[in-house]
Amino acid sequence: MTVDQLYQMMQAKLHDVMPDFEIRIKAELAWKINELKQKRNAVILGHNYMEPALFYSIPDFTGDSLDLCRKAASTDKEVIVFCGVQFMAETAKILNPDKTVLIPSAKAGCSLADSITADDVRELKKRFPGVPVISYVNTYADVKAESDICCTSGNAAMVVESTQADTVIFLPDEYLAKNVARETGRHIIFPVKPNNRNHFDSDLDYQMIGWHGKCEVHEKFTVEDIENIRKQFPDVFVLAHPECSPEVIEAADFSGSTKAMIKEVENSKAKRYLLLTECAMGDNIAVANPDKEMIRLCNIRCPHMNQITLEDTLNALELNRYIVEVPEEIRQRARQAVERMIAIG
Ligand code: 13P
Ligand code: SF4
Repeated sequence: MTVDQLYQMMQAKLHDVMPDFEIRIKAELAWKINELKQKRNAVILGHNYMEPALFYSIPDFTGDSLDLCRKAASTDKEVIVFCGVQFMAETAKILNPDKTVLIPSAKAGCSLADSITADDVRELKKRFPGVPVISYVNTYADVKAESDICCTSGNAAMVVESTQADTVIFLPDEYLAKNVARETGRHIIFPVKPNNRNHFDSDLDYQMIGWHGKCEVHEKFTVEDIENIRKQFPDVFVLAHPECSPEVIEAADFSGSTKAMIKEVENSKAKRYLLLTECAMGDNIAVANPDKEMIRLCNIRCPHMNQITLEDTLNALELNRYIVEVPEEIRQRARQAVERMIAIG
């Protein structure tokens, strides 16, 4: 494909969400990236939160965390460029020790992954011996290594049920844990207080043990936001990511992973949608569904996902940076937890 053909393709898709001169600049960058991708025998994986110019030009595969985990597990390319955040790129490395895994920015973290350490998990395991540990993929490799199985927002309830255990430790997202507890009919406790990791609650009536991690984006959406939008647009269909609070999920019409939200908009007949998640995904859905109106609250952004740009992706391939490494002993243990999740779907 020539630069002009790529520009035409991007222009046809993006003309409603970006000015033309910017599409031209982005098409030139994307073309260079795609050329280098071939030369380096690389695959580019793009999370659903990538900004529209990137999302619609360079990834070989786009999707939610679970989709991209599966793609990372099955690629035969030598280099994986992960347009997403650190824990996602780390998961790709956990599954592909012999491949080069690159992330375009060294600053693409995640407030959930930062909320818990491997020591925290070891303490919980000491306090609740024998109780299976389920870790959200939004954790770093050393936390995964202390876990029995991982989950994503797309399969969390299924993973909890798959353990067939009376009690599970579910880390680190407080809201996802509460939402899954409700979905699976379990009583949840939070034995460690947010600012006092030495305190353990003595309440013994529980089936799920949670942690006080929060997504700094989804925790900000409120029931009041939904009520205000419904007042202005009574026909609006509200979709919320399960990292939102249980009250927000209760007030919404649908909750699911980023992939599930995309599918729901595609399949639903409503004319107008409110998306309570990273705002770039609203643009990407609007591009794919020009007949549907997307309302998104763009003052609430993920500063980590937004680190990933076309410019830095080009630098990543040109300069072979930033290389993602996971110590072998941690990788092997973390791999079991990730592979168990992939095996159950
Ligand atoms: P998904 O697994 O739904 O794509 O979510 C990832 C994420 O980081 C949401 O904030
Ligand atoms: Fe982490 Fe939240 Fe950003 Fe997702 S949106 S990467 S959970 S901080």
